[in-house]
Amino acid sequence: MHPNREPAQHAGWTPSSWRSHSIRQAPHYLDAAALDSVEARLRRYPPLVFAGETRRLKSQLAKAARGEAFVLQGGACAESFNEFTADIVRDTFRVLLQMAVVLTFGAKVPVIKIGRMAGQYAKPRSSDTETQNGVTLPCYRGDIINGPEFTEAARLPDPGRMETGYFQSVGVMNLLRAFASGGYANLHEVHRWNLGFVKRSPLAERYQDLAQRIDETLSFMGACGFNQSAPQINETEFYTSHEALLLPYEQALTRIDSLSENWYDCSAHFLWIGDRTRQPDGAHVEFLRGVGNPIGIKVGPTTTLDDLEKLLDILNPKDEAGRITLISRMGVNKVSEFLPPLLDKVRGSGRTVTWLCDPMHGNTISTADKIKTRSFDSILGEVKGFFSVFQQAGLRPGGIHIEMTGQDVTECVGGAQCLTEADLAGRYETFCDPRLNAEQSLEMAFLLAEELTGHFRDHGALGK
Ligand code: PEP
Ligand code: CO
Repeated sequence: MHPNREPAQHAGWTPSSWRSHSIRQAPHYLDAAALDSVEARLRRYPPLVFAGETRRLKSQLAKAARGEAFVLQGGACAESFNEFTADIVRDTFRVLLQMAVVLTFGAKVPVIKIGRMAGQYAKPRSSDTETQNGVTLPCYRGDIINGPEFTEAARLPDPGRMETGYFQSVGVMNLLRAFASGGYANLHEVHRWNLGFVKRSPLAERYQDLAQRIDETLSFMGACGFNQSAPQINETEFYTSHEALLLPYEQALTRIDSLSENWYDCSAHFLWIGDRTRQPDGAHVEFLRGVGNPIGIKVGPTTTLDDLEKLLDILNPKDEAGRITLISRMGVNKVSEFLPPLLDKVRGSGRTVTWLCDPMHGNTISTADKIKTRSFDSILGEVKGFFSVFQQAGLRPGGIHIEMTGQDVTECVGGAQCLTEADLAGRYETFCDPRLNAEQSLEMAFLLAEELTGHFRDHGALGK
């Protein structure tokens, strides 16, 4: 098909049709010529992912929608150009893999692993400006747009950052592909977790018991001949994702797939629409309507039933399973009230979606010193609340979406480490929202595995 002709199912859509829709959270670039030339170069650069890979992820997400798989999506709130090192990528990858092993053990279904990695550089903000000591500057919008430093020069949107973002995504992607297929994902290695938190936890015995059962299972598998050379043990599938916020960048990476003749956004496997840009008639929804990737939509307390229905109609008119993942981000005190009507609405309309719980974005609080943090208990509480809404509906939850890092940062309070507000100053490194650190992430996985054991068993009995 000629690249200027859109496939028939996306009436009126082109990779640039979003430009005639109203747009929120978009930077204003002063140098239009510089923007044009960056976009032109990006359009020629190789894709970061292939359409076939995104279709494979879509079919796996369809399994999660049916309760036959569980999704673990995680990574930094905002990746940073400064933290572009092999160690940081490896540590996040490793913790995600460890969490996945623990969750697989609990849910007894495959865990689909998706990193908020290799492109999570653009951030929606609640305010367009930031004021410090009486000085007001444009807000920081993520490294792919401007710089975090509080100076006029850094805060000016620079189109050249899109090219840096692309090349850094290429570097991260290359490492992730190597780790996923080159032996780093070896199950026997992955389970050598740092159980430092266990010693400190009042739940130590339960953790140790679960860790030991996983160890025994792996030894048993080894004895049965599943050795290190078996691909099931040695390799893993790992997908990338980010918020599709900076549309000039996303458009430039959008390519037609010669096999299916469909358009795909080849900047990542999975793209989501944030809570602030999900207006049904807005530019972000228009853009994602036409690409074949699996799409996430954040749903929060302000999502109306009417908007949700419109979004599903626009983004998934044929009700393709795996196409839409709804990511609930309600807050621990709201999930049991606000989620059930949305769940009922989707079920009532007979649609297939995959439901994830993002227990981070509804639980951000500010300390007395105005440091953004989240409590481990609220995060855990929201996931439990989410699971119980599904339990009451006789359904299995599709998975979780978390902000985490493989580093030993001090950004979220609580957990077995008992991090307090006073500890936050120690290693507070996030450029945006507070993340679970390596130990808190693993501890969360252990606690959720216990929840899932009961949950998936109960529903197994229901034959669901
Ligand atoms: C995010 O996932 O980083 C984010 C900004 O979330 P939300 O759009 O749900 O607020
Ligand atoms: Co965030």
